[in-house]
Amino acid sequence: MMSIEMGVHNTIDRTVTIALQERSYPIEIGQGLLVDPCTYQDLPDATSVVVVTNTTVQTLYAAKVVAALQTRYRCVHTIVLPDGEQYKTWESMNHIFGQLLHNGCDRKTILFALGGGVIGDMTGFAAAAFMRGVRFVQLPTTLLAQVDSSVGGKTGINHPLGKNMIGAFHQPIKVICDMNVLQTLPKRELSAGLAEVIKYGPIADLGFLEWLHLNIDQLICLEPNALAHAIERSCHIKASVVGADEREDGIRAILNFGHTFGHAIEAGMGYGAWLHGEAVGAGMVMAACLSQTLGLIQAQKVASLTALIGRAGLPIRSPLLDSRNNGARYLELMRLDKKSLGGDIRFVVIHDDGSASLRQVPDAVVQTVIEQCCA
Ligand code: NAD
Ligand code: GLY
Repeated sequence: MMSIEMGVHNTIDRTVTIALQERSYPIEIGQGLLVDPCTYQDLPDATSVVVVTNTTVQTLYAAKVVAALQTRYRCVHTIVLPDGEQYKTWESMNHIFGQLLHNGCDRKTILFALGGGVIGDMTGFAAAAFMRGVRFVQLPTTLLAQVDSSVGGKTGINHPLGKNMIGAFHQPIKVICDMNVLQTLPKRELSAGLAEVIKYGPIADLGFLEWLHLNIDQLICLEPNALAHAIERSCHIKASVVGADEREDGIRAILNFGHTFGHAIEAGMGYGAWLHGEAVGAGMVMAACLSQTLGLIQAQKVASLTALIGRAGLPIRSPLLDSRNNGARYLELMRLDKKSLGGDIRFVVIHDDGSASLRQVPDAVVQTVIEQCCA
């Protein structure tokens, strides 16, 4: 992995606002933002600030981010966690809390999540719980984190019995999406991020879906204008959904299109074997097939979405989770999904008009779709 020189074009290209009354905040999208001292000047005063990152991102970016933060804050600490979904645990949270206390942090400390979704979710949860809540800033360094996980205030960790089962809603005070850092992202991780970009099309914006068909190759090449548009449009759609339903009492669940099947794949294969975005890619194909089986969307639209997911470098066939009882294993894992109520699984399905809704579906219908979609 190469380290790149940042700070050549320190410009904010676009800003999207998450409108949540007193919890509103900006998402700034641009190039060279993380190393630019100007980025941090309008943040509130703090007794100390703490950059939480992982070993991989630390090597690439932490020193430059800390240097930029030191132009604004006198006391800047760094906490480095091991890299990986398997470390999204209570042990890591306890390590963060221990370091915060050890460094004399207080209620005026601001945390900075420098990394992908794993670091963002854990730092946000630490910020929600430390001293009953401190402020935090998201500095997302993966595409997935820039278009999804850093936005909207879902924070948390995994439990051995289920992914993201322990957590809190806690909004950041700012999100800073620096597109330059995506240049060091492994291709597989970039594709995983594209899964979360693609999902916004079928659930909310057919025009954006059309644009993605035309621009997917530019996105894979990190063409800056295409990238800025994709991040901005994704954040806009997420902002409008989160603005309408911050705590997922209803409509916010549509952001989980493909995730019910996807979470089963991640858990069934063992966390880390499939990336979250890869599982969502194959999961979207399954959810689209389910929608077609229910008569909600035409077969040709499912085929076109499947082709786009494949062109993004994502799997379109789902794995067998149990060679003898595959359908039953998927159903068992999906009952643990947070959208399930009283053990009844609720699926996000898509409609021909570019909208999405939640449906309970008989097990036999789901089993047919699983058989169709598994390798
Ligand atoms: P990740 O955080 O594990 O990052 C992926 C890999 O890329 C890691 O190895 C990381 O060290 C490395 N990396 C990060 N930035 C890099 C860079 N610029 N250059 C090189 N390497 C870099 O994974 P992710 O895909 O970002 O996030 C997945 C997590 O996000 C999952 O835990 C998922 O549950 C969570 N998530 C949360 C939400 C939410 O709303 N809170 C939404 C979607 C996903
Ligand atoms: N990633 C889904 C959500 O934020 O609701």
